[in-house]
Amino acid sequence: MTQQPIFPDLAGKDVAVTGGASGIGAAIVRAFCAQNARVSFFDINETAGQALEQDLSPLAQFVPLDLSHPEMIAPAFDAAARDGAFDILINNAAHDDRHRIEDVSPQYWRDRLAVNLDHHFFCAQAVIPAMRQAGRGVIINMGSIAWRVGLDDAPAYVTAKAAIEGLSHGLARSLGRHGIRVNCVLPGFVRTQRQVEKWVTPEFEAEVLSRQCLQDFIQPEDVAAVVVMLASDSARAVTNQTVIVDAGWS
Ligand SMILES: NC(=O)c1ccc[n+]([C@@H]2O[C@H](COP(=O)([O-])OP(=O)(O)OC[C@H]3O[C@@H](n4cnc5c(N)ncnc54)[C@H](O)[C@@H]3O)[C@@H](O)[C@H]2O)c1
Repeated sequence: MTQQPIFPDLAGKDVAVTGGASGIGAAIVRAFCAQNARVSFFDINETAGQALEQDLSPLAQFVPLDLSHPEMIAPAFDAAARDGAFDILINNAAHDDRHRIEDVSPQYWRDRLAVNLDHHFFCAQAVIPAMRQAGRGVIINMGSIAWRVGLDDAPAYVTAKAAIEGLSHGLARSLGRHGIRVNCVLPGFVRTQRQVEKWVTPEFEAEVLSRQCLQDFIQPEDVAAVVVMLASDSARAVTNQTVIVDAGWS
Protein backbone atom coordinates (compact mmCIF):
# COMPACT_ATOMS: atom_id res chain seq x y z
CA MET A 1 0.00 0.00 0.00
CA THR A 2 1.13 3.55 -0.70
CA GLN A 3 2.84 5.18 2.27
CA GLN A 4 0.65 7.97 3.63
CA PRO A 5 1.79 11.42 4.79
CA ILE A 6 1.62 12.48 8.43
CA PHE A 7 -0.50 15.51 9.27
CA PRO A 8 0.94 16.76 12.61
CA ASP A 9 -2.24 18.62 13.61
CA LEU A 10 -4.15 15.29 13.79
CA ALA A 11 -2.00 13.87 16.62
CA GLY A 12 -4.02 13.77 19.83
CA LYS A 13 -7.29 14.72 18.12
CA ASP A 14 -10.42 12.85 19.24
CA VAL A 15 -12.11 11.24 16.27
CA ALA A 16 -15.49 9.48 16.12
CA VAL A 17 -16.00 6.98 13.28
CA THR A 18 -19.33 5.23 12.71
CA GLY A 19 -19.35 1.79 11.12
CA GLY A 20 -15.65 1.53 11.94
CA ALA A 21 -15.46 -2.20 12.63
CA SER A 22 -15.08 -3.35 9.03
CA GLY A 23 -14.70 -2.23 5.41
CA ILE A 24 -13.89 1.39 4.63
CA GLY A 25 -14.66 2.40 8.23
CA ALA A 26 -11.97 0.07 9.61
CA ALA A 27 -9.45 1.53 7.14
CA ILE A 28 -10.43 5.01 8.37
CA VAL A 29 -9.95 3.95 12.01
CA ARG A 30 -6.49 2.56 11.17
CA ALA A 31 -5.55 5.65 9.16
CA PHE A 32 -6.38 8.04 12.01
CA CYS A 33 -4.49 5.85 14.50
CA ALA A 34 -1.49 6.04 12.15
CA GLN A 35 -1.73 9.82 12.66
CA ASN A 36 -1.65 9.29 16.45
CA ALA A 37 -5.23 10.48 16.76
CA ARG A 38 -7.50 8.91 19.40
CA VAL A 39 -10.37 7.11 17.71
CA SER A 40 -13.72 5.97 19.11
CA PHE A 41 -15.53 3.78 16.61
CA PHE A 42 -19.21 2.87 16.86
CA ASP A 43 -20.51 -0.31 15.25
CA ILE A 44 -23.09 -3.05 15.61
CA ASN A 45 -20.57 -5.80 14.75
CA GLU A 46 -19.09 -6.67 18.14
CA THR A 47 -16.76 -9.45 16.96
CA ALA A 48 -15.05 -7.32 14.33
CA GLY A 49 -15.10 -4.24 16.59
CA GLN A 50 -13.43 -5.98 19.49
CA ALA A 51 -10.77 -7.51 17.24
CA LEU A 52 -9.90 -4.12 15.73
CA GLU A 53 -9.82 -2.47 19.14
CA GLN A 54 -7.43 -5.14 20.39
CA ASP A 55 -5.19 -4.52 17.40
CA LEU A 56 -5.10 -0.73 17.80
CA SER A 57 -5.45 -0.25 21.57
CA PRO A 58 -4.92 2.15 23.30
CA LEU A 59 -5.41 4.64 20.44
CA ALA A 60 -8.71 3.09 19.31
CA GLN A 61 -11.71 2.22 21.44
CA PHE A 62 -14.69 0.22 20.20
CA VAL A 63 -18.20 1.25 21.26
CA PRO A 64 -20.91 -1.32 20.46
CA LEU A 65 -23.95 0.58 19.17
CA ASP A 66 -26.90 0.04 16.85
CA LEU A 67 -26.95 3.40 15.09
CA SER A 68 -30.45 2.82 13.77
CA HIS A 69 -31.75 3.84 17.23
CA PRO A 70 -31.19 7.61 17.21
CA GLU A 71 -32.12 8.05 20.88
CA MET A 72 -29.07 5.94 21.84
CA ILE A 73 -26.56 8.05 19.88
CA ALA A 74 -25.99 11.13 22.08
CA PRO A 75 -25.58 9.13 25.33
CA ALA A 76 -23.12 6.76 23.63
CA PHE A 77 -21.11 9.64 22.15
CA ASP A 78 -21.06 11.54 25.46
CA ALA A 79 -19.82 8.45 27.29
CA ALA A 80 -17.15 7.71 24.66
CA ALA A 81 -15.61 11.19 24.23
CA ARG A 82 -12.33 10.93 26.12
CA ASP A 83 -12.00 14.64 26.95
CA GLY A 84 -15.73 15.30 26.75
CA ALA A 85 -15.68 16.31 23.08
CA PHE A 86 -14.91 15.05 19.59
CA ASP A 87 -12.81 17.16 17.21
CA ILE A 88 -13.68 15.12 14.13
CA LEU A 89 -16.74 13.03 13.14
CA ILE A 90 -16.69 10.57 10.26
CA ASN A 91 -20.24 9.40 9.46
CA ASN A 92 -19.57 6.17 7.59
CA ALA A 93 -21.97 3.39 8.70
CA ALA A 94 -24.41 2.03 6.13
CA HIS A 95 -26.09 -1.15 4.99
CA ASP A 96 -26.37 -1.53 1.23
CA ASP A 97 -28.69 -4.54 0.97
CA ARG A 98 -30.52 -4.69 -2.35
CA HIS A 99 -34.35 -4.52 -2.44
CA ARG A 100 -36.87 -4.74 -5.26
CA ILE A 101 -39.44 -1.94 -5.52
CA GLU A 102 -42.39 -4.32 -5.15
CA ASP A 103 -40.98 -5.87 -1.95
CA VAL A 104 -40.51 -2.63 0.00
CA SER A 105 -42.99 -2.28 2.90
CA PRO A 106 -43.37 1.01 4.83
CA GLN A 107 -41.44 -0.54 7.73
CA TYR A 108 -38.60 -1.75 5.48
CA TRP A 109 -38.32 1.71 3.88
CA ARG A 110 -38.10 3.30 7.36
CA ASP A 111 -35.48 0.75 8.45
CA ARG A 112 -33.31 1.48 5.37
CA LEU A 113 -33.39 5.22 6.04
CA ALA A 114 -32.65 4.59 9.73
CA VAL A 115 -29.54 2.56 8.93
CA ASN A 116 -28.34 4.64 5.97
CA LEU A 117 -29.34 8.24 6.67
CA ASP A 118 -30.82 9.25 10.03
CA HIS A 119 -27.73 8.61 12.16
CA HIS A 120 -25.67 10.99 9.98
CA PHE A 121 -27.78 13.83 11.35
CA PHE A 122 -28.04 12.59 14.93
CA CYS A 123 -24.29 11.86 15.27
CA ALA A 124 -23.62 15.38 13.97
CA GLN A 125 -26.14 16.75 16.45
CA ALA A 126 -24.28 14.94 19.26
CA VAL A 127 -20.86 16.42 18.46
CA ILE A 128 -21.82 19.94 17.33
CA PRO A 129 -22.27 21.65 20.75
CA ALA A 130 -18.66 20.95 21.82
CA MET A 131 -17.33 21.82 18.35
CA ARG A 132 -19.20 25.13 18.47
CA GLN A 133 -17.74 25.85 21.87
CA ALA A 134 -14.25 25.08 20.56
CA GLY A 135 -14.84 27.22 17.48
CA ARG A 136 -13.61 24.40 15.23
CA GLY A 137 -14.46 20.90 14.10
CA VAL A 138 -14.70 18.63 11.08
CA ILE A 139 -17.60 16.46 9.91
CA ILE A 140 -17.22 14.13 6.94
CA ASN A 141 -20.23 12.22 5.62
CA MET A 142 -19.82 9.13 3.47
CA GLY A 143 -22.10 9.26 0.46
CA SER A 144 -21.82 7.16 -2.68
CA ILE A 145 -21.77 7.56 -6.43
CA ALA A 146 -24.58 4.95 -6.33
CA TRP A 147 -27.37 7.50 -6.59
CA ARG A 148 -25.63 9.51 -9.30
CA VAL A 149 -25.02 6.48 -11.51
CA GLY A 150 -28.41 4.92 -10.80
CA LEU A 151 -27.60 1.74 -8.86
CA ASP A 152 -30.30 -0.83 -9.60
CA ASP A 153 -32.41 -2.64 -6.96
CA ALA A 154 -31.61 -0.31 -4.06
CA PRO A 155 -34.12 2.60 -4.16
CA ALA A 156 -34.04 3.30 -0.40
CA TYR A 157 -30.21 3.11 -0.27
CA VAL A 158 -29.74 5.50 -3.18
CA THR A 159 -32.34 7.87 -1.71
CA ALA A 160 -30.38 7.95 1.56
CA LYS A 161 -27.09 8.50 -0.25
CA ALA A 162 -28.55 11.42 -2.24
CA ALA A 163 -29.91 12.94 0.98
CA ILE A 164 -26.49 12.69 2.65
CA GLU A 165 -25.09 15.10 0.07
CA GLY A 166 -27.93 17.53 0.76
CA LEU A 167 -27.46 17.19 4.51
CA SER A 168 -23.72 17.87 4.13
CA HIS A 169 -24.32 21.12 2.25
CA GLY A 170 -27.00 22.24 4.73
CA LEU A 171 -24.76 21.56 7.73
CA ALA A 172 -21.77 23.23 6.07
CA ARG A 173 -23.79 26.43 5.66
CA SER A 174 -25.12 26.41 9.24
CA LEU A 175 -21.82 25.50 10.89
CA GLY A 176 -19.19 27.39 8.89
CA ARG A 177 -19.69 30.49 11.03
CA HIS A 178 -18.60 28.39 14.02
CA GLY A 179 -15.41 27.21 12.32
CA ILE A 180 -16.82 23.75 11.62
CA ARG A 181 -16.11 22.26 8.19
CA VAL A 182 -18.51 19.74 6.63
CA ASN A 183 -17.74 17.74 3.51
CA CYS A 184 -19.12 14.68 1.77
CA VAL A 185 -16.99 11.89 0.27
CA LEU A 186 -18.46 9.76 -2.52
CA PRO A 187 -16.64 6.47 -3.11
CA GLY A 188 -17.04 4.51 -6.32
CA PHE A 189 -16.78 0.72 -6.19
CA VAL A 190 -14.47 -0.13 -3.28
CA ARG A 191 -13.21 -3.68 -3.00
CA THR A 192 -14.16 -4.38 0.65
CA GLN A 193 -14.53 -7.87 2.09
CA ARG A 194 -18.33 -7.52 2.13
CA GLN A 195 -18.45 -6.39 -1.50
CA VAL A 196 -16.30 -9.33 -2.53
CA GLU A 197 -18.45 -11.79 -0.58
CA LYS A 198 -21.81 -10.36 -1.69
CA TRP A 199 -21.61 -9.18 -5.27
CA VAL A 200 -18.25 -9.61 -6.91
CA THR A 201 -18.01 -11.93 -9.90
CA PRO A 202 -15.52 -11.83 -12.78
CA GLU A 203 -18.27 -10.21 -14.91
CA PHE A 204 -18.93 -7.57 -12.24
CA GLU A 205 -15.22 -6.73 -11.98
CA ALA A 206 -14.94 -6.44 -15.76
CA GLU A 207 -17.93 -4.06 -15.75
CA VAL A 208 -16.33 -1.94 -12.99
CA LEU A 209 -13.05 -1.63 -14.87
CA SER A 210 -14.85 -0.78 -18.11
CA ARG A 211 -16.52 2.17 -16.28
CA GLN A 212 -13.39 3.44 -14.49
CA CYS A 213 -10.69 5.55 -16.16
CA LEU A 214 -8.09 4.00 -13.84
CA GLN A 215 -7.66 0.26 -14.21
CA ASP A 216 -7.07 -0.61 -10.52
CA PHE A 217 -9.73 -1.48 -7.98
CA ILE A 218 -10.21 1.14 -5.27
CA GLN A 219 -9.15 -0.20 -1.87
CA PRO A 220 -10.64 0.93 1.48
CA GLU A 221 -7.27 2.59 2.27
CA ASP A 222 -7.63 4.82 -0.82
CA VAL A 223 -10.83 6.30 0.60
CA ALA A 224 -9.37 6.54 4.11
CA ALA A 225 -6.40 8.53 2.79
CA VAL A 226 -8.71 11.18 1.30
CA VAL A 227 -10.82 11.31 4.47
CA VAL A 228 -7.74 11.86 6.66
CA MET A 229 -6.41 14.63 4.43
CA LEU A 230 -9.83 16.35 4.42
CA ALA A 231 -9.95 16.11 8.24
CA SER A 232 -6.53 17.71 8.61
CA ASP A 233 -5.71 21.42 8.70
CA SER A 234 -4.23 21.01 5.20
CA ALA A 235 -7.87 21.20 4.08
CA ARG A 236 -8.71 24.15 6.36
CA ALA A 237 -10.28 26.08 3.47
CA VAL A 238 -12.30 23.12 2.17
CA THR A 239 -15.95 22.93 3.24
CA ASN A 240 -19.36 22.46 1.62
CA GLN A 241 -17.74 20.14 -0.96
CA THR A 242 -18.46 16.74 -2.43
CA VAL A 243 -15.21 14.88 -3.03
CA ILE A 244 -15.44 11.92 -5.39
CA VAL A 245 -13.10 8.93 -5.03
CA ASP A 246 -14.25 6.72 -7.91
CA ALA A 247 -11.19 6.15 -10.15
CA GLY A 248 -12.93 8.22 -12.82
CA TRP A 249 -16.26 6.39 -13.18
CA SER A 250 -18.34 7.30 -16.23
N1 LIG B 1 -17.78 -0.38 -0.66
C1 LIG B 1 -18.20 0.36 -1.65
O1 LIG B 1 -18.06 0.01 -2.83
C2 LIG B 1 -18.88 1.69 -1.38
C3 LIG B 1 -19.21 2.47 -2.49
C4 LIG B 1 -19.80 3.70 -2.27
C5 LIG B 1 -20.08 4.15 -1.00
N2 LIG B 1 -19.76 3.36 0.05
C6 LIG B 1 -20.09 3.89 1.39
O2 LIG B 1 -18.94 3.83 2.24
C7 LIG B 1 -19.34 3.53 3.57
C8 LIG B 1 -18.67 2.27 4.06
O3 LIG B 1 -19.01 1.22 3.17
P1 LIG B 1 -18.40 -0.24 3.32
O4 LIG B 1 -18.40 -0.80 1.95
O5 LIG B 1 -17.18 -0.21 4.12
O6 LIG B 1 -19.59 -0.94 4.12
P2 LIG B 1 -19.54 -2.26 5.02
O7 LIG B 1 -20.89 -2.86 4.91
O8 LIG B 1 -18.36 -3.10 4.67
O9 LIG B 1 -19.32 -1.65 6.48
C9 LIG B 1 -20.32 -0.87 7.08
C10 LIG B 1 -20.09 -0.90 8.57
O10 LIG B 1 -21.26 -0.29 9.17
C11 LIG B 1 -21.69 -1.12 10.24
N3 LIG B 1 -23.12 -1.00 10.47
C12 LIG B 1 -24.12 -1.40 9.65
N4 LIG B 1 -25.30 -1.17 10.24
C13 LIG B 1 -25.04 -0.62 11.46
C14 LIG B 1 -25.86 -0.19 12.54
N5 LIG B 1 -27.20 -0.28 12.50
N6 LIG B 1 -25.26 0.31 13.64
C15 LIG B 1 -23.91 0.39 13.71
N7 LIG B 1 -23.09 0.00 12.72
C16 LIG B 1 -23.65 -0.51 11.60
C17 LIG B 1 -21.32 -2.54 9.80
O11 LIG B 1 -21.26 -3.44 10.90
C18 LIG B 1 -19.98 -2.32 9.13
O12 LIG B 1 -18.90 -2.42 10.03
C19 LIG B 1 -20.87 3.42 3.54
O13 LIG B 1 -21.42 4.66 3.88
C20 LIG B 1 -21.16 3.08 2.09
O14 LIG B 1 -22.45 3.48 1.71
C21 LIG B 1 -19.17 2.13 -0.09
